[in-house]
Amino acid sequence: MNEARPDIGKARPSTSMARADIAFEVNGAAVSVSVPPVRRLSQVLRDELRLTGTKVGCDAGDCGACTVLVDGEPVCACLVPAASVSGASVTTVEGLGNGRLSALQASFLEHGAAQCGICTPGLLVAASALLEHNPAPSEAETQDALGGVLCRCTGYRKIIAAVMDAARREPSKVSAAPHPPAGTFSPYSDG
Ligand code: FES
Ligand code: FES
Repeated sequence: MNEARPDIGKARPSTSMARADIAFEVNGAAVSVSVPPVRRLSQVLRDELRLTGTKVGCDAGDCGACTVLVDGEPVCACLVPAASVSGASVTTVEGLGNGRLSALQASFLEHGAAQCGICTPGLLVAASALLEHNPAPSEAETQDALGGVLCRCTGYRKIIAAVMDAARREPSKVSAAPHPPAGTFSPYSDG
């Protein structure tokens, strides 16, 4: 027996058009976006603001590739609803060097601390937060601070060495390092 479906042919209430207006700061610049409320911070950074330095690996809070700073604290951007950063200050890998390689980025470059590079932005952001809070971390403290970002390529030793070397250096000696020539590794790599 066929029963008439009372909902067929009728418009259903739709939430697809609902949008949230979000104003926040990214790498020191004020931005505002209008996005669906469920949009993740990682999606807003990459898709709306074209800050593709922030990588997405698992999209589930496991790999740490999407690590950014929210008000100075590292978070997985794939787990953060974009609407929750309204009024906050977000720092991505693009904001670490202020247009030039930071001491940390230069040290990663010198130590060969990146291979495929998918983890590198997250590691740089997590390490920058570590050095901001603890300018002279021990190896154990460094390992602990970076433990949320997985790397499948390097075995971590060069990464730990790069972070600790950056911590030892005079920032003034490495902060002026030029960008590497085209075709070589860049922590700013797109994609
Ligand atoms: S992409 Fe966010 S933790 Fe893996
Ligand atoms: S360099 Fe490939 S995952 Fe870390």
